[in-house]
Amino acid sequence: MRFTGKSVVITGATGGLGRAAAKRFHDEGAHVALVDLHQNDLDAFLQTFDTGSKRIIGIEADVSKNTDVKKYVNETMAVFGRIDTLFNNAGIEGSISSLEDYEEDTFDRVVQVNIKGVWLGMRYCADAMRKSGGGSIINTASAAGLMATPSLIAYGASKHAVIGMTKSASIELAPAGIRVNAVCPGVINTRMMRSIEEQTIPDNPEEYVKAVSEKTPLGRYGEPEEVASLVAFLASDEATYITGSSYVIDGGLLNA
Ligand SMILES: NC(=O)c1ccc[n+]([C@@H]2O[C@H](COP(=O)([O-])OP(=O)(O)OC[C@H]3O[C@@H](n4cnc5c(N)ncnc54)[C@H](O)[C@@H]3O)[C@@H](O)[C@H]2O)c1
Repeated sequence: MRFTGKSVVITGATGGLGRAAAKRFHDEGAHVALVDLHQNDLDAFLQTFDTGSKRIIGIEADVSKNTDVKKYVNETMAVFGRIDTLFNNAGIEGSISSLEDYEEDTFDRVVQVNIKGVWLGMRYCADAMRKSGGGSIINTASAAGLMATPSLIAYGASKHAVIGMTKSASIELAPAGIRVNAVCPGVINTRMMRSIEEQTIPDNPEEYVKAVSEKTPLGRYGEPEEVASLVAFLASDEATYITGSSYVIDGGLLNA
């Protein structure tokens, strides 16, 4: 299997994209460290794996806190002895609001999680990856990092920042054999889209789904497993010459 003997850290692991990636890497033989905010959610998700599996652990951590990021890296190193891949995926959408009405606290939190959390993950995982001669970091940006997102001012800014950090990190970490790429999903069928649908059209969120699906050339939302396929590719030895790139996975939406 592609990831036998490899160790993968996934942040935002109990969310839609995180769960799909966790299943994919575990199925392909990896040791997987799941990172998310609440231990009870992690424990419930762990129950869905073969209970005899010693290849998967859950670590409660807030990616925006330096001490928590150090903790998830140290715990993964203590249990699995190495980190080969970081799927730096935890993120929040903030709120849907005009830029004049946007709450400052919400703006700050989006920046803390979506920008600082991604930087801290790269910072401490890069240290660990250097010890085993290299690795692969995949940051979750968004189509929102490449286009205007009216009413999502902080989210759009944060995802542009993720793409910028990905480019800078790819150059700094290349001499250590660490590749850094980003994925830019369009609309994917997870809790985050439920939140955006309900905030945008509270009376009829289905209307949002219909309108966005119709606008998308492939005619539907993406599924988390489709993003997990791209992430697994970027982590694999089939992608050894790819770094500093941002991969759009959006059913054609950006070009529509
Ligand atoms: N769903 C989409 O359409 C879509 C599109 C583009 C990008 N994304 C990005 O994909 C990533 C995953 O989102 P999702 O769609 O799976 O949504 P989700 O809400 O299902 O999952 C996000 C996960 O991140 C976790 N998280 C939030 N803040 C955290 C913190 N401070 N520390 C640790 N964990 C934290 C949440 O608990 C949750 O499990 C996000 O970065 C999101 O911005 C999603």
